[in-house]
Amino acid sequence: MYSPIADALTAPPAGLDPSYFTRQDLDAYSAEDHEVWSILFSRRMAELVDTGSEAFLSGAEVIGLDASRVPDLEDVNRRLGEKTGWAAIPVTGFIEARQFFACLAERRFPTTITVRPKSQLEYLQEPDIFHDVFGHVPLHANPVFADFLQTFGAVAAQAEHPADIEAMARLFWFTVEFGLVAERGATRIYGSGLISSVGDAANALGPDCDRRPFTLDAVIAQPFEIDRLQDVLFVVDDFAHLFDACEEAERRLREGRLTA
Ligand SMILES: [Fe+2]
Repeated sequence: MYSPIADALTAPPAGLDPSYFTRQDLDAYSAEDHEVWSILFSRRMAELVDTGSEAFLSGAEVIGLDASRVPDLEDVNRRLGEKTGWAAIPVTGFIEARQFFACLAERRFPTTITVRPKSQLEYLQEPDIFHDVFGHVPLHANPVFADFLQTFGAVAAQAEHPADIEAMARLFWFTVEFGLVAERGATRIYGSGLISSVGDAANALGPDCDRRPFTLDAVIAQPFEIDRLQDVLFVVDDFAHLFDACEEAERRLREGRLTA
């Protein structure tokens, strides 16, 4: 049983560079910020009720997201903490990979708190609060996904050979960012890049994307390109499948190398 304390939850893990971390000031959001959140939320939810994974849909409810305004991370973290002990911690922007993994290993998700401009509703290079909190954080309320992501962070932090680091980046990309899951007799989306984007989601479920069964070996052999629609994605049967793949990655790293 977790006992959440707001300040402890939002503090950066010990030993990490404090310059990465910041606080969310709700009064700093403009009327346009709230409007952008509201437009994006309504637009995505209208589709996600049919195409989103159960874990996303129930997680969004658990953490209290709604269309009316930019979410208050303290409230999100109180709800999330009670459920799985995860927290979204505000960061100033890009965070170095090892520090990012170290945060995941402590059930802390580094979260951008800025809102994209209204002129860039659909596409944006850097993550914003809609990608991070709408796209990622609902999944952290799912106990199995929560365990997977923590384990992923711990394993990724151990990888040292460049090929192994690349393999862990591919595992992250094809699951946390662009993952698909077989559910309710159909392929549903759970990866944040798909949850938060109309265009990427339509591509992932459409005829131009080759949806393959998820295996650890298939994923770590598959290169990816950012900033374009994905030609190949992977479908898991359930999140236990992800957790098992992560444990397998850990076993291989302990014994030598993740990649052949
Ligand atoms: Fe992301």
